[in-house]
Amino acid sequence: MNAPLPEQRILRVQRVRKSFGGIRAVDDCSLSIAAQSITGLIGPNGAGKSTLFNLIAGLYRPDGGAIWLSDSRIDGLPPFEIVHLGLTKTWQIPHELRNMTVLENLMLGAKNNPGEHLLNILVRPTVVRREERAWRTRAREILRLTQLDGLADEYAKSLSGGQKKLLELARALMTEPAVVLLDEPVAGVNLTLAASLMDLIERLRQAGRTFFLIEHDMNVVMNRCDRVIVMHQGRTIADGTPASVKANPAVIDSYLGG
Ligand SMILES: Nc1ncnc2c1ncn2[C@@H]1O[C@H](COP(=O)(O)OP(=O)(O)OP(=O)(O)O)[C@@H](O)[C@H]1O
Ligand SMILES: [Mg+2]
Repeated sequence: MNAPLPEQRILRVQRVRKSFGGIRAVDDCSLSIAAQSITGLIGPNGAGKSTLFNLIAGLYRPDGGAIWLSDSRIDGLPPFEIVHLGLTKTWQIPHELRNMTVLENLMLGAKNNPGEHLLNILVRPTVVRREERAWRTRAREILRLTQLDGLADEYAKSLSGGQKKLLELARALMTEPAVVLLDEPVAGVNLTLAASLMDLIERLRQAGRTFFLIEHDMNVVMNRCDRVIVMHQGRTIADGTPASVKANPAVIDSYLGG
């Protein structure tokens, strides 16, 4: 991962639109994210936050507008290509992976996992074995980092809600992302685990990664984010420091007021 300059904009969303039937979920939305920042995205239910993340991660194709990851235009690319370019979104552990162990989940999260390509196994078995070993080493490192090392051989389904969130982040880290999108990372997580999850995110940011996270927990947003962007009815209505956003009348009106 190349560490970009701190003030560099690593992610830019330009006038992006997405409708579902008659619903304009994301409506002419523009924003940008500074490299090596933790940026929060807040807004009322149905504001379009998750839809925007799905557009950025390539799950949906925008109806219009452009999305840039550094110098690459990524809107319309399939999710795996966006992952290769350095942006990963955390996903709920899929049903079929709950019966696999924590370590196996990480191995499947690896970018370009050569073991998955049959041709590689047949043609380049030595390379595959070497890369497989490297991924396993990386998986062990990430398990230590996320404090899941004691649970490496447990089934994913046996983890607590908070541990599952850690596993989602750990899987995402296997792709060595420059930018990580997290949709409500501490929702339903107990306070202690939520604090250690946010401590980990802070350490990863200091190591050069960029985080963009949706969160309804105002404690997390106000104390852990450098910058906060507010969405309302599909577009950005405020963007600034946590303190400035908290004092913004339009934000109080649409979201914080109640
Ligand atoms: N796949 C979909 N099909 C149809 N409508 C959708 C779809 N996804 C989202 N919507 C609609 O788009 C709007 C924005 O939804 P979205 O989930 O992005 O909001 P959100 O800001 O993430 O809300 P929340 O805080 O409740 O998670 C809502 O009106 C929602 O019903
Ligand atoms: Mg949502």
